[in-house]
Amino acid sequence: HGTSKINAQGHLEIGGCDATALREQFGTPLYVVDEQLVRRRCREFIEAFRATGLSFQVAYASKAFCVVAMCSLAAEEGMSLDVVSDGELYTALQAGFPVERIHFHGNNKTPAELEMALDARIGCFVVDNLTELHLLQALAAERNMRTNILLRVTPGVEAHTHEYISTGQTDSKFGFDIGNGAAMEAVKLALQQSQLNLLGVHSHIGSQIFEVDGFEVAAERVAAFTKSVKEELGAEFKVINLGGGFGIRYTDEDTPLPVSRYVEAIAKAVKTHFAGISATLPEIWIEPGRSIVGDAGTTLYTVGSIKDIPEVRKYVSVDGGMTDNPRPALYQAKYEAMLANRANDPAEETVSIAGKACESGDMLIWDVELPRVKSGDLLAVSSTGAYNYSMASNYNRIRRPAVVFAANSKAELVVRRESYEDLVRNDLIPERVSSRTL
Ligand code: LLP
Repeated sequence: HGTSKINAQGHLEIGGCDATALREQFGTPLYVVDEQLVRRRCREFIEAFRATGLSFQVAYASKAFCVVAMCSLAAEEGMSLDVVSDGELYTALQAGFPVERIHFHGNNKTPAELEMALDARIGCFVVDNLTELHLLQALAAERNMRTNILLRVTPGVEAHTHEYISTGQTDSKFGFDIGNGAAMEAVKLALQQSQLNLLGVHSHIGSQIFEVDGFEVAAERVAAFTKSVKEELGAEFKVINLGGGFGIRYTDEDTPLPVSRYVEAIAKAVKTHFAGISATLPEIWIEPGRSIVGDAGTTLYTVGSIKDIPEVRKYVSVDGGMTDNPRPALYQAKYEAMLANRANDPAEETVSIAGKACESGDMLIWDVELPRVKSGDLLAVSSTGAYNYSMASNYNRIRRPAVVFAANSKAELVVRRESYEDLVRNDLIPERVSSRTL
């Protein structure tokens, strides 16, 4: 998919860059991002929305992969940006992301984060709870500012996905429940805040979703809520944010819909359920993360140790693992792999891919069919663009890999490989310790 193909040498090629050449130039493990594919995904969302005639914003959920180059690319493609921490906001600001298109999420924004975002004059805060509502009002008042907000509501829709990454239930740390009256109460309060301009509400029903029905039901419930807000409080919502969660393909078990299908279903549900509530339909915002960058990422590893336990299993170890991709260990996520240096060789054996961290749980893939694997082979794991680099760690003091953008036969470094100096940069030796060791 994307610009990936197998070239005449039998090597995997991404964005016209031969994977074996990428290894020579940048080393492994290496995250390779198919830049054209990321751009295509941004455009698919935007073009699908354009075709619906609705007013819209497509915000890239930067948690999926937040680095300066990615924020710049998203800005260039006309996306808005969802950030959930001071760190993501800082990264966006470093990229010069247009501040009016930045939306700030999170269930526990600190006073310092709210101040930083107010001072940066970001476009919208997605207020999650009453603590935040009052704090934001007070901080905006101190600055004599008025700022846009959405209220995050939980419409009680359960997405068809892994339990740990589903956030739309009633029993959730996020948002105001529509069902128990908390959301109505929050709207009433928000309308009384002199410094807060309530644009509307936000709902996010989960992640890695393959069907449209969850979004349709969420739109319907949010519309019903919008109607009661108008009837009970006389207030109208200008913006409805339906969150992210559009699924991607990791393995054959995954059956995502084309981006346009999700957008069409959302638009249809909005047109049906919001008709007649106000004179005009609300502006629709969405927040895809995974579906923008997920399948555009490939991680290249070098194969090292091989342990064959006859009749049991063959462990093939690579030079990375849970430190660059914690998803298999965290969510039992499944991935596919191929030998990037011998991409045409037929599959000959079933092996399991182990990471190098000191944990039995550091397994990237259980049972994958590959040609007879040798130490030194180049292993490519696909669909690693989302929630890999952004969730990477330094466990075992393993350095985070470099990231390159590959396009038009050119690979450009967008994140340098961490150095040993990076690892100890913030380490200090207290005097007690150093005097004793001397
Ligand atoms: N908007 C909100 C409010 C969210 O909480 C999320 C994801 C998104 C948008 C973007 O969702 P996406 O389009 O990427 O599915 N670390 C997990 C995924 C956690 C998702 C959290 N929220 C994983 O690796 O599967």
